[in-house]
Amino acid sequence: MADTVHASPRNEPPEKVGAKSISEMAGRETPLIRNYWYVAAFSEEITRVPMRRTILDRDIVFYRKEDGTPVALQNRCAHRSYPLHKGTVSGDRIVCGYHGFEYGADGQCAHVPSLPAAPRAIKVQPFPLIEDGPLVWIWMGDPAEPDQSRMVYQDWCSKPGWTHVKGYMYMKANYLGLHENLLDLSHFPFLHGQVLGRPEHAAAKPKVRVEGDVVFSGVMHRDVGMAPNYVKATGIKPPFDRESAHAIPCPGIHLGQAILTDSSDPPQTHIRHIVHIMTPETLKTTHYFWAIARDKAIDDPAVDKESLMFADKAFMEDKVALEEIEEVIARDKRPDFREKIISTDEGAITLLRAFARMAAREAGGE
Ligand code: FES
Ligand SMILES: [Fe+2]
Repeated sequence: MADTVHASPRNEPPEKVGAKSISEMAGRETPLIRNYWYVAAFSEEITRVPMRRTILDRDIVFYRKEDGTPVALQNRCAHRSYPLHKGTVSGDRIVCGYHGFEYGADGQCAHVPSLPAAPRAIKVQPFPLIEDGPLVWIWMGDPAEPDQSRMVYQDWCSKPGWTHVKGYMYMKANYLGLHENLLDLSHFPFLHGQVLGRPEHAAAKPKVRVEGDVVFSGVMHRDVGMAPNYVKATGIKPPFDRESAHAIPCPGIHLGQAILTDSSDPPQTHIRHIVHIMTPETLKTTHYFWAIARDKAIDDPAVDKESLMFADKAFMEDKVALEEIEEVIARDKRPDFREKIISTDEGAITLLRAFARMAAREAGGE
Protein backbone atom coordinates (compact mmCIF):
# COMPACT_ATOMS: atom_id res chain seq x y z
CA MET A 1 0.00 0.00 0.00
CA ALA A 2 1.40 3.39 -0.97
CA ASP A 3 2.17 5.73 1.87
CA THR A 4 -0.62 8.11 1.07
CA VAL A 5 -3.87 9.21 2.60
CA HIS A 6 -7.13 7.81 1.30
CA ALA A 7 -10.72 8.48 2.13
CA SER A 8 -12.29 5.40 3.56
CA PRO A 9 -15.48 4.31 1.80
CA ARG A 10 -16.74 2.40 4.81
CA ASN A 11 -18.76 5.25 6.25
CA GLU A 12 -20.83 5.53 3.16
CA PRO A 13 -24.55 5.35 3.78
CA PRO A 14 -25.80 1.76 4.01
CA GLU A 15 -26.43 0.29 0.64
CA LYS A 16 -29.04 -2.15 -0.40
CA VAL A 17 -27.96 -5.68 0.43
CA GLY A 18 -27.58 -7.74 -2.67
CA ALA A 19 -25.31 -8.56 -5.54
CA LYS A 20 -22.48 -6.02 -5.82
CA SER A 21 -24.27 -3.72 -3.38
CA ILE A 22 -22.12 -4.18 -0.27
CA SER A 23 -19.33 -1.65 0.13
CA GLU A 24 -15.79 -2.68 -0.82
CA MET A 25 -14.84 -2.57 2.87
CA ALA A 26 -16.96 -3.94 5.68
CA GLY A 27 -18.25 -1.28 8.06
CA ARG A 28 -20.71 -0.69 10.85
CA GLU A 29 -23.68 -1.21 8.55
CA THR A 30 -22.43 -4.41 6.92
CA PRO A 31 -24.83 -7.24 7.75
CA LEU A 32 -23.49 -9.71 10.32
CA ILE A 33 -21.86 -12.68 8.62
CA ARG A 34 -23.81 -15.78 9.62
CA ASN A 35 -22.25 -18.82 7.95
CA TYR A 36 -19.45 -19.26 10.48
CA TRP A 37 -18.89 -20.67 13.94
CA TYR A 38 -18.78 -18.13 16.78
CA VAL A 39 -17.90 -18.60 20.42
CA ALA A 40 -21.18 -18.44 22.35
CA ALA A 41 -19.88 -18.89 25.88
CA PHE A 42 -17.16 -20.23 28.09
CA SER A 43 -17.94 -23.82 28.92
CA GLU A 44 -18.69 -23.22 32.59
CA GLU A 45 -21.33 -20.61 31.78
CA ILE A 46 -23.66 -23.27 30.37
CA THR A 47 -25.20 -25.32 33.16
CA ARG A 48 -28.47 -27.00 34.07
CA VAL A 49 -29.87 -23.52 34.79
CA PRO A 50 -31.01 -21.87 31.52
CA MET A 51 -28.82 -18.99 30.36
CA ARG A 52 -29.85 -16.27 27.92
CA ARG A 53 -27.46 -14.65 25.45
CA THR A 54 -28.02 -12.66 22.25
CA ILE A 55 -25.69 -13.63 19.42
CA LEU A 56 -25.81 -12.04 15.95
CA ASP A 57 -29.13 -10.48 16.90
CA ARG A 58 -30.70 -13.81 17.85
CA ASP A 59 -32.10 -14.27 21.36
CA ILE A 60 -30.86 -17.72 22.44
CA VAL A 61 -31.24 -19.90 25.54
CA PHE A 62 -28.48 -22.32 26.55
CA TYR A 63 -28.59 -25.28 28.94
CA ARG A 64 -27.05 -28.73 29.36
CA LYS A 65 -28.63 -32.14 28.95
CA GLU A 66 -28.24 -34.73 31.71
CA ASP A 67 -25.16 -36.18 29.98
CA GLY A 68 -23.58 -32.70 29.91
CA THR A 69 -24.13 -31.96 26.19
CA PRO A 70 -24.80 -28.24 25.69
CA VAL A 71 -28.00 -27.16 23.95
CA ALA A 72 -28.96 -23.86 22.28
CA LEU A 73 -32.52 -22.97 21.30
CA GLN A 74 -34.34 -19.88 20.15
CA ASN A 75 -35.36 -18.14 23.38
CA ARG A 76 -38.98 -17.65 22.48
CA CYS A 77 -41.66 -20.16 23.24
CA ALA A 78 -43.63 -21.08 20.14
CA HIS A 79 -46.86 -20.77 22.13
CA ARG A 80 -47.16 -17.23 23.54
CA SER A 81 -43.54 -16.04 23.17
CA TYR A 82 -42.54 -16.37 26.82
CA PRO A 83 -38.72 -16.40 27.07
CA LEU A 84 -37.59 -19.96 27.65
CA HIS A 85 -34.67 -18.91 29.85
CA LYS A 86 -37.29 -18.05 32.50
CA GLY A 87 -38.29 -21.72 32.61
CA THR A 88 -36.54 -24.77 34.03
CA VAL A 89 -34.60 -27.75 32.76
CA SER A 90 -36.09 -31.20 33.35
CA GLY A 91 -34.20 -34.23 32.11
CA ASP A 92 -33.04 -33.24 28.62
CA ARG A 93 -35.91 -30.82 28.04
CA ILE A 94 -36.52 -27.17 28.80
CA VAL A 95 -39.91 -26.43 30.32
CA CYS A 96 -41.55 -23.10 29.49
CA GLY A 97 -42.35 -21.13 32.63
CA TYR A 98 -45.70 -19.85 31.30
CA HIS A 99 -47.85 -22.90 30.36
CA GLY A 100 -45.39 -25.73 30.74
CA PHE A 101 -44.71 -26.71 27.10
CA GLU A 102 -41.58 -28.89 27.01
CA TYR A 103 -38.97 -28.70 24.25
CA GLY A 104 -36.25 -31.23 23.51
CA ALA A 105 -32.68 -30.42 22.52
CA ASP A 106 -33.75 -30.59 18.84
CA GLY A 107 -36.24 -27.77 19.46
CA GLN A 108 -39.25 -30.05 18.96
CA CYS A 109 -42.09 -29.63 21.45
CA ALA A 110 -42.38 -32.97 23.26
CA HIS A 111 -45.14 -32.25 25.75
CA VAL A 112 -48.11 -29.89 26.04
CA PRO A 113 -49.76 -30.27 29.46
CA SER A 114 -53.27 -29.68 28.13
CA LEU A 115 -53.06 -32.05 25.14
CA PRO A 116 -52.69 -35.83 24.86
CA ALA A 117 -49.81 -35.43 22.37
CA ALA A 118 -47.64 -32.49 21.34
CA PRO A 119 -48.40 -31.31 17.75
CA ARG A 120 -45.35 -31.68 15.45
CA ALA A 121 -45.84 -28.11 14.27
CA ILE A 122 -44.83 -26.73 17.67
CA LYS A 123 -41.07 -26.24 17.72
CA VAL A 124 -38.35 -23.67 18.29
CA GLN A 125 -35.15 -23.25 16.28
CA PRO A 126 -32.16 -25.25 17.53
CA PHE A 127 -28.61 -23.98 16.98
CA PRO A 128 -25.74 -26.45 16.40
CA LEU A 129 -23.01 -26.27 19.07
CA ILE A 130 -19.47 -27.64 19.39
CA GLU A 131 -17.76 -27.76 22.77
CA ASP A 132 -14.02 -27.27 22.35
CA GLY A 133 -12.19 -27.28 25.70
CA PRO A 134 -13.25 -24.09 27.53
CA LEU A 135 -15.13 -22.72 24.50
CA VAL A 136 -18.64 -23.46 23.28
CA TRP A 137 -19.06 -22.55 19.62
CA ILE A 138 -22.36 -21.92 17.85
CA TRP A 139 -23.19 -22.18 14.15
CA MET A 140 -25.22 -19.12 13.15
CA GLY A 141 -25.98 -20.17 9.56
CA ASP A 142 -28.64 -22.64 8.44
CA PRO A 143 -29.04 -25.04 11.40
CA ALA A 144 -29.57 -27.95 9.00
CA GLU A 145 -26.16 -27.43 7.39
CA PRO A 146 -23.44 -26.53 9.87
CA ASP A 147 -20.17 -26.38 7.95
CA GLN A 148 -17.69 -28.40 10.05
CA SER A 149 -14.85 -27.34 7.77
CA ARG A 150 -15.22 -23.77 9.03
CA MET A 151 -14.69 -24.72 12.67
CA VAL A 152 -11.36 -23.45 14.02
CA TYR A 153 -10.55 -25.75 16.94
CA GLN A 154 -8.27 -24.23 19.55
CA ASP A 155 -6.00 -27.13 20.50
CA TRP A 156 -4.05 -25.22 23.09
CA CYS A 157 -7.22 -25.06 25.20
CA SER A 158 -7.18 -28.67 26.19
CA LYS A 159 -3.81 -30.08 25.11
CA PRO A 160 -1.76 -31.65 27.93
CA GLY A 161 1.18 -29.46 28.90
CA TRP A 162 -0.66 -26.21 28.22
CA THR A 163 -2.48 -23.79 30.48
CA HIS A 164 -4.33 -20.56 29.93
CA VAL A 165 -6.00 -17.62 31.59
CA LYS A 166 -9.15 -16.18 30.11
CA GLY A 167 -11.69 -13.42 30.51
CA TYR A 168 -14.72 -11.66 29.08
CA MET A 169 -15.69 -8.04 28.46
CA TYR A 170 -18.98 -6.70 27.16
CA MET A 171 -18.23 -4.06 24.57
CA LYS A 172 -20.63 -1.38 23.37
CA ALA A 173 -19.05 -1.22 19.93
CA ASN A 174 -19.17 -2.99 16.57
CA TYR A 175 -16.93 -6.07 16.45
CA LEU A 176 -14.96 -4.89 13.40
CA GLY A 177 -13.24 -2.15 15.41
CA LEU A 178 -11.67 -4.77 17.66
CA HIS A 179 -10.22 -6.67 14.69
CA GLU A 180 -8.86 -3.40 13.31
CA ASN A 181 -7.39 -2.44 16.66
CA LEU A 182 -5.56 -5.75 16.98
CA LEU A 183 -3.95 -5.38 13.55
CA ASP A 184 -2.75 -1.87 14.32
CA LEU A 185 0.37 -1.57 16.44
CA SER A 186 0.72 2.15 15.87
CA HIS A 187 -1.70 2.92 18.71
CA PHE A 188 0.43 1.10 21.33
CA PRO A 189 2.59 4.02 22.56
CA PHE A 190 -0.44 6.25 22.92
CA LEU A 191 -3.32 4.13 24.13
CA HIS A 192 -1.18 1.57 26.00
CA GLY A 193 1.74 3.80 27.00
CA GLN A 194 2.12 2.14 30.40
CA VAL A 195 1.66 -1.50 29.49
CA LEU A 196 3.12 -2.27 26.11
CA GLY A 197 3.82 0.79 24.02
CA ARG A 198 7.30 1.48 22.66
CA PRO A 199 8.13 4.47 20.45
CA GLU A 200 8.94 2.32 17.40
CA HIS A 201 5.42 0.86 17.46
CA ALA A 202 4.10 4.20 16.19
CA ALA A 203 5.46 3.51 12.71
CA ALA A 204 5.16 -0.29 12.82
CA LYS A 205 3.97 -1.74 9.52
CA PRO A 206 3.27 -5.46 9.86
CA LYS A 207 3.60 -7.63 6.77
CA VAL A 208 0.10 -8.52 5.61
CA ARG A 209 -0.96 -11.32 3.30
CA VAL A 210 -4.24 -12.97 2.33
CA GLU A 211 -4.92 -16.61 1.47
CA GLY A 212 -8.51 -17.02 0.33
CA ASP A 213 -10.47 -15.13 2.95
CA VAL A 214 -7.88 -15.65 5.70
CA VAL A 215 -5.82 -12.60 6.56
CA PHE A 216 -2.35 -12.95 8.09
CA SER A 217 -0.24 -10.21 9.61
CA GLY A 218 3.18 -10.39 11.25
CA VAL A 219 5.85 -8.12 12.65
CA MET A 220 9.22 -8.66 14.37
CA HIS A 221 10.37 -6.60 17.34
CA ARG A 222 14.00 -6.67 18.46
CA ASP A 223 15.30 -6.62 22.04
CA VAL A 224 11.94 -6.49 23.74
CA GLY A 225 11.23 -6.87 27.44
CA MET A 226 9.07 -9.55 28.97
CA ALA A 227 6.85 -9.93 32.03
CA PRO A 228 9.21 -10.39 35.03
CA ASN A 229 7.39 -13.39 36.54
CA TYR A 230 7.48 -15.24 33.22
CA VAL A 231 11.21 -14.59 32.90
CA LYS A 232 11.80 -15.76 36.48
CA ALA A 233 9.64 -18.87 36.18
CA THR A 234 11.02 -20.06 32.83
CA GLY A 235 14.66 -19.00 33.04
CA ILE A 236 14.32 -17.46 29.58
CA LYS A 237 17.26 -15.16 28.92
CA PRO A 238 16.74 -11.49 27.96
CA PRO A 239 16.79 -9.61 25.70
CA PHE A 240 14.25 -11.24 23.39
CA ASP A 241 13.15 -10.97 19.82
CA ARG A 242 9.43 -11.15 19.56
CA GLU A 243 7.48 -12.04 16.45
CA SER A 244 3.79 -11.14 16.64
CA ALA A 245 1.81 -13.23 14.20
CA HIS A 246 -1.92 -12.84 13.60
CA ALA A 247 -4.37 -14.96 11.64
CA ILE A 248 -8.04 -14.14 11.16
CA PRO A 249 -9.71 -17.24 9.73
CA CYS A 250 -13.32 -16.13 10.26
CA PRO A 251 -15.27 -13.12 11.54
CA GLY A 252 -15.47 -14.17 15.19
CA ILE A 253 -11.88 -15.01 16.09
CA HIS A 254 -8.52 -13.30 15.89
CA LEU A 255 -5.65 -15.66 16.57
CA GLY A 256 -2.47 -14.11 17.86
CA GLN A 257 0.84 -15.79 18.54
CA ALA A 258 3.76 -14.20 20.36
CA ILE A 259 6.92 -16.09 19.36
CA LEU A 260 9.79 -15.19 21.67
CA THR A 261 13.39 -16.08 20.88
CA ASP A 262 15.78 -15.50 23.74
CA SER A 263 19.50 -14.79 24.01
CA SER A 264 20.59 -18.25 25.22
CA ASP A 265 23.14 -20.23 23.25
CA PRO A 266 21.51 -21.93 21.42
CA PRO A 267 18.47 -19.61 21.49
CA GLN A 268 15.26 -20.93 23.01
CA THR A 269 11.89 -20.25 21.45
CA HIS A 270 8.72 -19.77 23.45
CA ILE A 271 5.28 -19.51 21.83
CA ARG A 272 2.26 -18.07 23.53
CA HIS A 273 -1.25 -17.93 22.05
CA ILE A 274 -3.16 -14.71 22.55
CA VAL A 275 -6.63 -15.39 21.28
CA HIS A 276 -9.23 -12.69 20.87
CA ILE A 277 -12.79 -13.78 20.31
CA MET A 278 -15.29 -11.22 19.15
CA THR A 279 -18.83 -12.51 18.92
CA PRO A 280 -21.21 -9.82 17.70
CA GLU A 281 -24.23 -9.45 19.95
CA THR A 282 -25.68 -6.87 17.57
CA LEU A 283 -24.14 -4.51 15.03
CA LYS A 284 -23.44 -2.16 17.94
CA THR A 285 -22.39 -4.50 20.74
CA THR A 286 -19.87 -7.33 21.07
CA HIS A 287 -19.09 -10.19 23.42
CA TYR A 288 -15.30 -9.99 23.79
CA PHE A 289 -13.81 -13.22 25.11
CA TRP A 290 -10.06 -13.65 25.27
CA ALA A 291 -7.51 -16.23 26.36
CA ILE A 292 -3.74 -16.26 26.78
CA ALA A 293 -2.14 -19.71 26.68
CA ARG A 294 1.36 -20.95 27.39
CA ASP A 295 3.25 -24.22 27.65
CA LYS A 296 5.95 -22.98 30.07
CA ALA A 297 5.64 -22.41 33.83
CA ILE A 298 2.17 -23.90 33.61
CA ASP A 299 1.74 -24.39 37.35
CA ASP A 300 2.93 -20.95 38.37
CA PRO A 301 0.09 -18.77 39.72
CA ALA A 302 2.33 -15.66 39.63
CA VAL A 303 2.54 -15.98 35.82
CA ASP A 304 -1.25 -16.40 35.62
CA LYS A 305 -1.73 -13.31 37.74
CA GLU A 306 0.64 -11.28 35.60
CA SER A 307 -1.16 -12.29 32.39
CA LEU A 308 -4.54 -11.47 33.91
CA MET A 309 -3.33 -8.06 35.06
CA PHE A 310 -1.90 -7.32 31.61
CA ALA A 311 -5.15 -8.29 29.89
CA ASP A 312 -7.34 -6.41 32.33
CA LYS A 313 -5.35 -3.27 31.66
CA ALA A 314 -4.48 -3.44 27.94
CA PHE A 315 -7.69 -5.07 26.68
CA MET A 316 -9.76 -2.72 28.82
CA GLU A 317 -7.96 0.27 27.28
CA ASP A 318 -8.94 -1.00 23.82
CA LYS A 319 -12.53 -1.65 24.85
CA VAL A 320 -12.90 1.85 26.31
CA ALA A 321 -11.35 3.46 23.20
CA LEU A 322 -13.61 1.51 20.84
CA GLU A 323 -16.69 2.46 22.87
CA GLU A 324 -15.61 6.13 22.72
CA ILE A 325 -15.25 5.90 18.93
CA GLU A 326 -18.67 4.26 18.60
CA GLU A 327 -20.19 7.05 20.63
CA VAL A 328 -18.53 9.80 18.56
CA ILE A 329 -19.73 8.20 15.33
CA ALA A 330 -23.26 7.93 16.68
CA ARG A 331 -23.25 11.64 17.59
CA ASP A 332 -21.87 12.88 14.28
CA LYS A 333 -24.71 13.15 11.80
CA ARG A 334 -22.67 14.52 8.86
CA PRO A 335 -23.43 12.14 5.99
CA ASP A 336 -20.34 13.09 4.00
CA PHE A 337 -17.67 12.42 6.67
CA ARG A 338 -14.96 10.00 5.51
CA GLU A 339 -12.29 8.53 7.77
CA LYS A 340 -8.76 8.84 6.37
CA ILE A 341 -6.54 5.81 6.09
CA ILE A 342 -2.74 5.65 5.93
CA SER A 343 -0.22 2.90 5.31
CA THR A 344 -0.15 1.63 8.92
CA ASP A 345 -3.83 0.74 8.43
CA GLU A 346 -3.02 -1.84 5.75
CA GLY A 347 -3.85 -4.85 7.93
CA ALA A 348 -7.19 -3.41 8.98
CA ILE A 349 -8.16 -2.43 5.45
CA THR A 350 -7.17 -5.85 4.08
CA LEU A 351 -9.35 -7.52 6.69
CA LEU A 352 -12.32 -5.24 6.11
CA ARG A 353 -12.13 -6.09 2.42
CA ALA A 354 -12.11 -9.82 3.19
CA PHE A 355 -15.15 -9.44 5.46
CA ALA A 356 -16.94 -7.37 2.81
CA ARG A 357 -16.41 -10.25 0.35
CA MET A 358 -17.81 -12.76 2.87
CA ALA A 359 -20.86 -10.55 3.52
CA ALA A 360 -21.43 -10.04 -0.19
CA ARG A 361 -21.28 -13.80 -0.80
CA GLU A 362 -23.95 -14.36 1.85
CA ALA A 363 -26.06 -11.68 0.22
CA GLY A 364 -25.77 -13.53 -3.07
CA GLY A 365 -23.23 -11.22 -4.63
CA GLU A 366 -19.55 -11.51 -5.50
S1 FES B 1 -45.78 -19.30 26.36
FE1 FES B 1 -44.61 -21.05 26.63
S2 FES B 1 -46.03 -22.55 27.14
FE2 FES B 1 -47.24 -20.80 26.76
FE1 LIG C 1 -4.75 -2.09 21.68
